[in-house]
Amino acid sequence: MGKTAFITGVTGQDGAYLSQLLLSKGYKVYGGYRRTSSPNFWRLEELNIRNNVEFLEVDILDTGNLIRTFEKIKPDEVYNLAAQSFVAVSFEKPVLTGEITAIGVTRVLEAIRIVNPRIKFYQASSSEMFGKVQEVPQKETTPFYPRSPYAAAKLYGHWLTINYRESYDIFGCSGILFNHESPLRGIEFVTRKVSDAVARIKMGAQDYFEIGNMDAKRDWGYAKEFVEGMWMMLQQPKPKDYLLATNENHSVREFIEHAFNYVGIDISWKGSGVNETGIDSKSGKTLVKINPRYFRPGEVDHLLGDYSLAKKELGWSPKVKFKELVEIMVQRDLERIS
Ligand code: NAP
Ligand code: GDD
Repeated sequence: MGKTAFITGVTGQDGAYLSQLLLSKGYKVYGGYRRTSSPNFWRLEELNIRNNVEFLEVDILDTGNLIRTFEKIKPDEVYNLAAQSFVAVSFEKPVLTGEITAIGVTRVLEAIRIVNPRIKFYQASSSEMFGKVQEVPQKETTPFYPRSPYAAAKLYGHWLTINYRESYDIFGCSGILFNHESPLRGIEFVTRKVSDAVARIKMGAQDYFEIGNMDAKRDWGYAKEFVEGMWMMLQQPKPKDYLLATNENHSVREFIEHAFNYVGIDISWKGSGVNETGIDSKSGKTLVKINPRYFRPGEVDHLLGDYSLAKKELGWSPKVKFKELVEIMVQRDLERIS
């Protein structure tokens, strides 16, 4: 008989791709979504799997809800992808972020410990935990230095996973994943914000867009490949933490340049600081402006991951690199608009 998996945060980017992957492997997939007045299943619809996943109303703010769910569906594997995942919002809602992104992990782990400690557990940890980086590139052993309430909450979840593994022998793995993007990325994150805006500008549906710190660098990979790494971690003989990245980093500015380049627009930069603008070299029109409202009180300047442990022990390597990723995203947004 096939295995049963439960995914918290099934309506998010990774929840959709992970559901697709597990279904292709013959899993019975249960997806937890939180109650909202209008449920948000567009990603599962885009992947054409909405009818293949069994949805359950599960909020990781509610331990009893989690316990009853695990008793009912008896999962072999639980993937905890639910989080208040937007770093910028975590500065405005630090307490809520802590409740969901940090204590939420405790609730899921407690439910596992109570219902069946043999359930395998994946925790969605983040490269944001490296924050003000203490080593370049970052690896599993690099000391952490979180720079936001989100990152501090993720660090709590990371250590709690290790703690439950060591204290209760729970098969818990923490995946330290660097930024991974796709056409299913939420529009508030910088890559999708740019791919969507560039597609709209190209199609004449928008004149310009506003951006924050363009010099931040990220190690951006493709979400569809990263969820494979999550699954691989839970198939190992022993639980361990692994870092997934591409080992390449690029600035937000480079992302913007390549996105425009893909649609045949050459962008040049004028001015400096908050007065810097991105100009269409051919028409002279202003296409990009800086808006300080997108600056963060604490910034993570650059992230670069060394995924050699995952390559050696899981056999995981990313195939899609920066330029192809930008093109996949802009192309899909062009299709959505036309
Ligand atoms: P996402 O698209 O923002 O999805 C987050 C999911 O969490 C959504 O389904 C959301 O539901 C759900 N959620 C939020 N609060 C909840 C609650 N109280 N109870 C139950 N569900 C709740 O994030 P993602 O990009 O797929 O990332 C998945 C996980 O990996 C997150 O934990 C994120 O922090 C972490 N991570 C992501 C990256 C990345 O680059 N994408 C890198 C490292 C780690 P709604 O649809 O109702 O909002
Ligand atoms: N969102 C956003 N919007 N970011 C901007 C903007 C803007 O207009 N302008 C510049 N940026 C910069 C941010 O300041 C940050 O340095 C960088 O772009 C990336 O921002 P996001 O795309 O919001 O992602 P993130 O790196 O903060 O967080 C994402 O990756 C983490 C993994 O490192 C999220 O997916 C987190 O959940 C994840 O853990």
